[in-house]
Amino acid sequence: MTASSPDEPVSPDDAVRPLERGLAVLRAMAADPSPRQRPSDLARETGLARSTVDRVATTLTRLGHLRADGRDLLLTPRLMEFGNAYLASCGLPEALAPHAFALADRLDESVSIAVPDEDGVRFITQAPRRRTMAVSFRIGDLLPAERCAPGALFAARWTEAERERWLTRRRTDPLDSRFPAVPKRTGAEDDRKAEAAFEDRVRAARETGLSVDDQLIEPGLVAVALPVRDPSGATVCAVSVVSHTSRHTAPSLVEHALPRLRSTVDAMEHALHAQAAAPPPPADAVAAFDSSLKEELGSGFLQSLARGLDVLRALGSRRGPMSLADTARATALPRATARRALITLQHLGYAAAEPDGYRLLPRVMDLGFPRLSQLTFAQIARPHLAALVEQVHESASVAVLDGDDIRYVARVAASRIMRVDITVGTRFPAYATSMGRVLLAALPERERLDHLSRVTPRRFTPRTKTTVPALSRALATAAREGWALVDQELEEGLCSLAAPVTDDLGRVIAAANVALHASRGTTDQIRDAVLPPLREAARRIGDDLAVVSRFTGSRIR
Ligand code: PHB
Repeated sequence: MTASSPDEPVSPDDAVRPLERGLAVLRAMAADPSPRQRPSDLARETGLARSTVDRVATTLTRLGHLRADGRDLLLTPRLMEFGNAYLASCGLPEALAPHAFALADRLDESVSIAVPDEDGVRFITQAPRRRTMAVSFRIGDLLPAERCAPGALFAARWTEAERERWLTRRRTDPLDSRFPAVPKRTGAEDDRKAEAAFEDRVRAARETGLSVDDQLIEPGLVAVALPVRDPSGATVCAVSVVSHTSRHTAPSLVEHALPRLRSTVDAMEHALHAQAAAPPPPADAVAAFDSSLKEELGSGFLQSLARGLDVLRALGSRRGPMSLADTARATALPRATARRALITLQHLGYAAAEPDGYRLLPRVMDLGFPRLSQLTFAQIARPHLAALVEQVHESASVAVLDGDDIRYVARVAASRIMRVDITVGTRFPAYATSMGRVLLAALPERERLDHLSRVTPRRFTPRTKTTVPALSRALATAAREGWALVDQELEEGLCSLAAPVTDDLGRVIAAANVALHASRGTTDQIRDAVLPPLREAARRIGDDLAVVSRFTGSRIR
């Protein structure tokens, strides 16, 4: 059996309740303006029993999608795996983002790519210019079609039923509260006039093939957009060039941007042709949830929620729709189980059934993607450092290489008073620190030698290594072992152990350390006690960074 046909009604009776409930909790958390919530508030917002929320939260926490901090629950970066699954499976960022970035460079204006999402417009790529602009939308943000340039292009192809759905939404949500990314409608405008104006812009889009936003969202913001069609001729997304009235009026932006925007769209459509001609790569097996969790947590663990989320991720394991058979294979689930999860996702608007299988829909981005995509490196690292400090009862930090120094980007102090007063932003010469040594050790040999010949090591303590041969040996050891221990070379009594943080390609992008008093033990004892949890924390930080950066760019600064 393949997917059910798109017209076949999906019976909610077949839906997997724990999966529905888990997604309801995640959606409620993502929609709330506060990043932390209490289970009791979630019970109120979702209408679920408090005991149900607790079981859902326990399961999602064990799966790594939620984190508990005291009585509060927070979304974790890992949740972005779901939005990543949509972005990977639609194939658009992969094929089109490089063209969007090239256009932004050439025009020196922001460029975005958006897809239709029912009667809304969802951003999937942002190539921003750093300028002071009142609004800047995030990947995953949803806008009402009538309030941005791409909307008229998508609406130009609406059926009458889709137009009706749009009008109904306008009536039932007069303030645009379903669209937290845009300023609320004032209620002062004349709704009929606004709707007629949109229909005029839709007509113009149909006739001219382009769409202009002359300060629809807020004063100053102007944009021009063109549709991008797939080889079947369907409009799959729109590319916008976005500017500000301090630089362009709407007509002058069109004149300035249109020629290059047109050739970019040609190149994009070409890229989509090439992508369609290449056979989709085989699906990767998703790492299924660890079934020992079920035993560990007993009835507190909702196995069917875990399995349903595996199915969601599996749909992102390759480009294009995925058949039931492939989904079952990728998740190692029985077909009947995979099918019920797929039907549930379809019922909730996260997936669509097509003749050749199921495909994820942009609505998946509602599961926290825009907010989590704004996390800084420090915010990603801090919970992992806090967990490490809890284990080893010593302070932990993350630093990056900045010129010849290390610069602290995150730090969690142990409650005991430390003699060294280090804060975020503190810099130390790389050669005298454990984090500096693992970072220098990862440099290409040429750069490592350049560094050693450039710096004049200072003798901070009698133990500080100050000669090029001694430092070279220390770096070679760090490179070989994959960690470094510096014993009272920066400060008397201070011992520090560091391990690298790597990205998804295994490149060292930062270092994590634990700093402790030298009296805590011999260096061997310190290494044996601290290195395993330190490495685990460094791995988790790197994993989270990879998930967050996959479609939103690096945040190592
Ligand atoms: C944006 O990418 O921020 C954007 C695009 C089109 C608009 C407005 C904003 O009409």
